[in-house]
Amino acid sequence: MKWQYPLSDIDLGREEEREVLKVLRSKWLSTGPVTERFEKAYSHYLGGGFAVAVSNGTAALHLALACMDLRQGDEVILPSLTFVATANAVLYVGGRPIFADIVSTDDLNISPEEIEKKVSKRTKAILVMHYGGYPCDMESILAIAKQHRLHVVEDAAHAPGAQYHGEKCGTLGTMGCFSFFSNKNLVTGEGGMVFTRNQAFAERVRTMRSHGMKALSWDKYRGHLSSYDIGDLGYNYRTTEIQSALGLVQLKKLNRNNQKRRKLVEAYRRELEEVEGILIPFSRYGTGPSYHLFSILISPSVPRDRVMEGLRGHGIQTSIHYPPIHLFSLYRRQFGYKKGMLPKTEEVSRREVTLPLHPGMDGDDVCWIAKKLRGVIRNLKQGRV
Ligand SMILES: Cc1ncc(COP(=O)(O)O)c(C=O)c1O
Repeated sequence: MKWQYPLSDIDLGREEEREVLKVLRSKWLSTGPVTERFEKAYSHYLGGGFAVAVSNGTAALHLALACMDLRQGDEVILPSLTFVATANAVLYVGGRPIFADIVSTDDLNISPEEIEKKVSKRTKAILVMHYGGYPCDMESILAIAKQHRLHVVEDAAHAPGAQYHGEKCGTLGTMGCFSFFSNKNLVTGEGGMVFTRNQAFAERVRTMRSHGMKALSWDKYRGHLSSYDIGDLGYNYRTTEIQSALGLVQLKKLNRNNQKRRKLVEAYRRELEEVEGILIPFSRYGTGPSYHLFSILISPSVPRDRVMEGLRGHGIQTSIHYPPIHLFSLYRRQFGYKKGMLPKTEEVSRREVTLPLHPGMDGDDVCWIAKKLRGVIRNLKQGRV
């Protein structure tokens, strides 16, 4: 289906074309000098530290958690209102995911109070996700982590460029994991980044990214090494020079595009704030978020699926962020998780609708979408649909 208003779209232009062409002409396509430049630029953007580019955001999470040296059954506390990759990464390293509820229907991030309740002797780490690019309450979360000597890993897939008290999301915990998937604020098609200020962790991630080898093919090509040792179990989570070339250009556009997103969100709020039947979360945020998603909650008295269907009829693509992970068959079967365990998460999952948001939109697009949404809700309330 060709949407008149897709949920997301990519800001790609001549500069990306030019840089990708340069890579193709260089004939070095796997991780190499362009990736090194991307890593340097990204760590500089985040305020200094170590950035390691990987094949996608899931790989970034896997490698970050692999550094935590979990033993079978060790626990990681995380939200359920996130993409399944966040929790799957815990399973990859033999951990047990312990889900904590969100703060409220206004703040869809993991609740520090709920985290505190779930800390046990087996807890090894807290894995937070900045929902929609709105930073979690990191001050409280870091205080809990400090008290119990836990690592904090940030799933910052939604949050490139988001700031929390002047510091970038993804730099606040022990490790930050980014995704550059095609619908994200910074896009390389597939791609990811691990950020840390811990040099030992950075080196481990760098090694595990390429089979546990200390050297890359690029190093061998440059004559730096002819043999290698394997110290850690590794994977092939390398990225390509094409992705890194895209990333370098996209990084230059990130702040500007996040500001465009902010203006669109402000316009949505103006258009929808007073509408009966709609609640707009994250009402108390200032200028820090990266505005990855624009989420609304539909009143329980209005059928959410019918709202989405109505918008679809107008060519407006919508989505749900997210079905709760603890209720997926895999998680129920493996860990015995049940409905009712996380009431706020489950309520938001039933009511949430994500509306189109990307830097290619303008204020008129927002007005049009909001007008159609108001019409759909009005008709549903009056029983006309
Ligand atoms: C919150 C969250 N975590 C992790 C991921 C995984 O990233 P990727 O698709 O790059 O593997 C995504 C995105 O797709 C995501 O939205």
